[in-house]
Amino acid sequence: MAHDATGSGHAHFGTSAYDLPQTADEITRRTFMAKATVAIGGLIGLGLAIPIVGSLIPDTSSGGAKPSPLDAAGWKELQAATDKAVQISFTLKNKDAYLPEESSPASVWGIKTSLERFKAARPDIFLADGKLNLPFPYSQANVMGFTVFSPICPHLGCRYNYDAANNKFACPCHGSQFDYEGKHIAGPAARGLDPLPLNIKDGDAEVTWIRYRSTIPDRLVVSYTS
Ligand code: FES
Repeated sequence: MAHDATGSGHAHFGTSAYDLPQTADEITRRTFMAKATVAIGGLIGLGLAIPIVGSLIPDTSSGGAKPSPLDAAGWKELQAATDKAVQISFTLKNKDAYLPEESSPASVWGIKTSLERFKAARPDIFLADGKLNLPFPYSQANVMGFTVFSPICPHLGCRYNYDAANNKFACPCHGSQFDYEGKHIAGPAARGLDPLPLNIKDGDAEVTWIRYRSTIPDRLVVSYTS
């Protein structure tokens, strides 16, 4: 006598596991199908996520993000500065795929400090293992001691000011404050000032504009000039 998988002793000639939804065979098959579906979904998600994450990282070497020249006089002033931040202007060119290129006046805050001092002040930028916690590589200009910060407050996006008398940055909107190296020292901002890619080309300096997500501790790139 033929036995079914449940051991009931009843014969089921001419049937298959599909006809017997409660058999151990079918339960195993369903579990397998469910796991396979989740796994395939995960792979598809991963395949989509990698290009999306990749597209958020500015590639300053391949022309994906175009650097803008910094004002020559401002760059000179920063080179001569000693422990004072310098506001340097530049023209930000923005090109949306479907709109004509737009130019608007913009500026960054530049500081000059030794790499050692900057490293000590900004553990949010230099991790303990020496690696950079930035979405772009540290440049030769940075190694020489120059850093430029986005002028946008990382709290909610206001423009902060430089308090020269106290050598610190202060945001008028909700009172966030940052020291000379851009370290967060007071107020509701969740991180220090955001560095921007700075390169020296033929003696002139150029910056790549990045917009980071506000309010969060991590530097998540929202957009960059392209
Ligand atoms: S936007 Fe600067 S402190 Fe809120």
